[in-house]
Amino acid sequence: MLLDVAPDWVLPIAYLLAAMMFIQGLRDMTHPRTAMRGNLISAAGMFVAVAVTVVWFEIISPIVLFSGLIVGTAAGTVLALRVDRTEMPQLVGVFNGFGGGASAVVAGAELIEIQIGGGVLPTEVAVAAVFSGIIGAVTFFGSMVAAGKLHGVVTSSAVRYSGEQAVKLLTLGLALVAGGYLVTQPDVLAAQLQGDLLPSYWFLIAAASLLGVLLVIPIGGADMPVVIALLNAYSGLAAAATGFVLNNTALIIAGTLVGAAGMILTVIMCESMNRSLTNVLFGGFGEEPDQAEMDDIYEGNITETSPEEVEMLLDVADRVVIVPGYGMAVAQAQHAVAELAGELADNGVDVEFGIHPVAGRMPGHMNVLLAEADVPYEQMRELEEVNPTFSQTDVVIVTGANDVVNPKANTDESSPIAGMPVLNVSEAGTVIVNKRSLSPGFSGIPNPLFAEGNTSMLFGDAKASMQDLVNLYKENN
Ligand code: TAP
Repeated sequence: MLLDVAPDWVLPIAYLLAAMMFIQGLRDMTHPRTAMRGNLISAAGMFVAVAVTVVWFEIISPIVLFSGLIVGTAAGTVLALRVDRTEMPQLVGVFNGFGGGASAVVAGAELIEIQIGGGVLPTEVAVAAVFSGIIGAVTFFGSMVAAGKLHGVVTSSAVRYSGEQAVKLLTLGLALVAGGYLVTQPDVLAAQLQGDLLPSYWFLIAAASLLGVLLVIPIGGADMPVVIALLNAYSGLAAAATGFVLNNTALIIAGTLVGAAGMILTVIMCESMNRSLTNVLFGGFGEEPDQAEMDDIYEGNITETSPEEVEMLLDVADRVVIVPGYGMAVAQAQHAVAELAGELADNGVDVEFGIHPVAGRMPGHMNVLLAEADVPYEQMRELEEVNPTFSQTDVVIVTGANDVVNPKANTDESSPIAGMPVLNVSEAGTVIVNKRSLSPGFSGIPNPLFAEGNTSMLFGDAKASMQDLVNLYKENN
């Protein structure tokens, strides 16, 4: 064993190094400029932790280790490269699920290991294993349903039924009873695992797996990004619990970091939509579009414009703010939008992007797309920074955004987005809204901004429309 020749401090120091790399990685991920480096540092930290554990304890032969690494790396790389950017939330969901599932399985394997060794199951290990099993299985199955809903292979409607909460409570109760049995009867664990008694750990896993499905299936597809952020936090907690089962410091630290980061992200997303977590999990969201209300707001009040007219406005503008939304991601219009901003800036126009924290369908969606299109970070302004500047802005171009610029959030207390902070674009001289039709966004409600006196609608696909503007602007400047 390497343990015989290497000094004792090597393992804790290697784990400390891995933990420091995770923390530095997370820190770097808070800014788009350093995010890629952060990802690489965190991945390297995970490699250090895995490699040191495997070598130190001689857990498996190098052949098994490298086969696992190669298969895992290949599967992860192929998935990440092939998946569309708009499908990223479900990929993250699947990865979270695997994390939770792995934690539950590893905790179970450790129980078997203890049993094979003929050891007594310490209470703290049993408690941690129960925690890991329940949260891990909920995370795996919950994430698969969430990813399925986003991908359209599981119904995205909220599946509700009478007695729903009672069924969930009963399932949780069954998992807890099995867990309680495991903790209080450790001496019969050996008998359980030999099949003499119902193996309570696997019963617990079965009940928690069902619970994972039951918890996510009643939530509408539109709320899945928040659910995925929450499940991400769960996967971290399950990993931390498994760290306690294995007495592995690196896993405890990494799991806690993921748990805390996922929870903070969940809270930020809920706050940005002005909704409570309870409302997301149990409330349901999104309305069926009300045609009568839409007609009432839009009829006779919509001004349509053309790329030629918008280009003329841009020719004389001193300050332009571009507000991107989900439609920019759908149309993959970020390169055309970035080119337009670049052309304007080259001609001395003060150009900025107004980025709402929940624009799009995942956290940082707009920032990632714009960064990919090489938009300078200095041009990306957050909601609080850009809102006070609209009154000094000549033209706002809203492209593929809807809810994040909907004034109903401020004016209609009964609306599902009431109280959500929005970009107050109508304070600008002229607002150009580019989308394909008057259809509503994620919340399903009409948008009175489209009917305001200083708004003109530029109907069309975001990419085609932005490219038209770029071409016309280049011809004239
Ligand atoms: P939405 O309100 O969903 O509106 C997007 C608009 O894009 C639609 O009205 C659609 O209108 C338009 N569009 C779609 N494809 C287009 C294309 N090819 N070209 C041009 N336009 C296109 O988007 P938003 O303003 O970004 O707001 C995001 C919403 O998602 C918020 O309600 C937010 O709470 C919610 N949400 C966000 C997140 C995160 S973390 N970002 C998570 C969960 C929920 P047409 O069909 O007429 O073109």
